[in-house]
Amino acid sequence: MKGIVFTEFLEMVEEKFGIEVVDHILNESKLQSEGIYTSVGTYDFIEMQSLLINLSKKVAIPLDDLIYSYGLYFFNTLTKVHPGIFALYKDPIELLSSIENHIHVQVRKLYPGAELPTFKIEKKTEDQLEILYFSERAMYMFAKALMEKTFEHYDQASKIRLEKIENNGTKVRFLISKKYGTYQK
Ligand code: HEM
Repeated sequence: MKGIVFTEFLEMVEEKFGIEVVDHILNESKLQSEGIYTSVGTYDFIEMQSLLINLSKKVAIPLDDLIYSYGLYFFNTLTKVHPGIFALYKDPIELLSSIENHIHVQVRKLYPGAELPTFKIEKKTEDQLEILYFSERAMYMFAKALMEKTFEHYDQASKIRLEKIENNGTKVRFLISKKYGTYQK
């Protein structure tokens, strides 16, 4: 996992919960990196898992909710660091259906060693998208947050439902609709 994911995560924790909580989770987690992250480095995903678990214990917020919040936060980072990628798209469904074949392809070049999910489009219309998410990191709530923020970025309302295909969240179907409550299978 890339360093920017760690540095932004710790920044969010500091903003939301304070520097003491950052220190606490860094101390409680067994980190090979010793908690020293540079945005261009690459670190083991186990470290992120450990930081999240310790944060969840410390602040008594479920893991899924924390990962979701982090996705909301990280989207703002993405729009700041990579405005050019967002400028290429005029529509949230166009953007989301291009992650696999365009956006994350660019990301692999910009961030060597990035561990990215796989997306597979099952159905696409002008205002609906059905997409499968595959990742051994099971960051589907991170994905949901990024999807919701993508709609917000284009000033559009969305309804996003997810269905776990695998119980552990490594394979998840997203049912994305432009208008509230209109998704039809
Ligand atoms: C992970 C970049 C858009 C879904 C990542 C990572 C980077 C990245 C750097 C971390 C990789 C690592 O730590 O090794 C970008 C950029 C984007 C973009 C530059 C747009 C300009 C999106 C969007 C989604 C998305 C719109 C919506 C679903 C994810 C997910 C992960 C991820 C779910 C977590 C890894 C996993 O689940 O296995 N992305 N991303 N990305 N990205 Fe993107």
